[in-house]
Amino acid sequence: MTAAATGLHDFTVVTNESVADGLMRVVLSAPDVAFQMEAGQFLNVAVPGDASQILRIPLSFSHADAKAGTIEIVYAVVGDGTRRLSLMSPGDASTVVAPCGNPWPLVEGSRRACVVAGGVGITTVVACARMLAEAGVSFDAVVGAQTAGRLWGVDVLEGLGAGSVSVTTDDGTAGRRGFTTDALADLLAQGSYDVVYACGPEVMMAGVARLCRDAGVACRVSMERMMCCGFGACGTCNVAMADGTYKSCCKDGPVFGAEEVAW
Ligand SMILES: Cc1cc2nc3c(=O)[nH]c(=O)nc-3n(C[C@H](O)[C@H](O)[C@H](O)COP(=O)(O)OP(=O)(O)OC[C@H]3O[C@@H](n4cnc5c(N)ncnc54)[C@H](O)[C@@H]3O)c2cc1C
Ligand code: FES
Repeated sequence: MTAAATGLHDFTVVTNESVADGLMRVVLSAPDVAFQMEAGQFLNVAVPGDASQILRIPLSFSHADAKAGTIEIVYAVVGDGTRRLSLMSPGDASTVVAPCGNPWPLVEGSRRACVVAGGVGITTVVACARMLAEAGVSFDAVVGAQTAGRLWGVDVLEGLGAGSVSVTTDDGTAGRRGFTTDALADLLAQGSYDVVYACGPEVMMAGVARLCRDAGVACRVSMERMMCCGFGACGTCNVAMADGTYKSCCKDGPVFGAEEVAW
């Protein structure tokens, strides 16, 4: 499938609700673009409410429903833009630039995968899991959060047919106390994965990349950078590559082969 051209599209908020501590789930009605979104791509969202804030907010999506024309995004409220987004009500309208970036790739010949989500990285990991389920690739999942109250998506992954969902929390209030990398190390020791897909804090993805390299398993990561333009023009989102070059997170990424990145 050839990636659709990035364009400007209108949206209307359908629902916008709290799903965990500091985490919101917004569903946008955006029929002009919902059918074009591929798992792993992102949207650059204009959030109204402060005319002095001209930058859009890059957000991944967890589900794009082509039939309903809707896009589901789970986001953390961390600063002014996401706070204003959290205040948008059903019927409120604005625009997105989308689809942005490259999608999660299906690795040729892969039959068994593991998806790993840290924090709000769960959003695009759920989209990845849905892609795997639709392609008939069986998968396990690892989901990590700081604490039980900040977990989202475990039931969604189970509903998508995950073979197992291993939960970790930093404080031990749900699942295993520790990091996603602790759970992944055990799964890699037992399982025979063809590929691991990960999104979360950079330190987590560096750990996942190391574990996969040592186990000889392919690994794809979704990187985050501050973004100004979102389409490869400004250079704010550069990611250092292992070969000494730089690539743009917004256009060449956000998904990279873990071995490409200079961790
Ligand atoms: C490709 C991509 C996909 C993303 N998907 C999601 C998602 O699905 N859900 C989600 O909650 N967040 C996601 N983010 C992060 C999200 O874009 C930022 O949290 C948001 O832009 C913060 O805006 P703000 O105005 O609320 O915060 P600001 O006031 O701008 O910043 C608040 C804090 O967030 C940090 N921050 C701001 N922008 C970014 C950024 N782009 N990356 C990392 N840290 C940032 C700042 O350094 C600061 O510490 C994604 C980022 C990228 C690049
Ligand atoms: S955000 Fe401008 S080049 Fe990526």
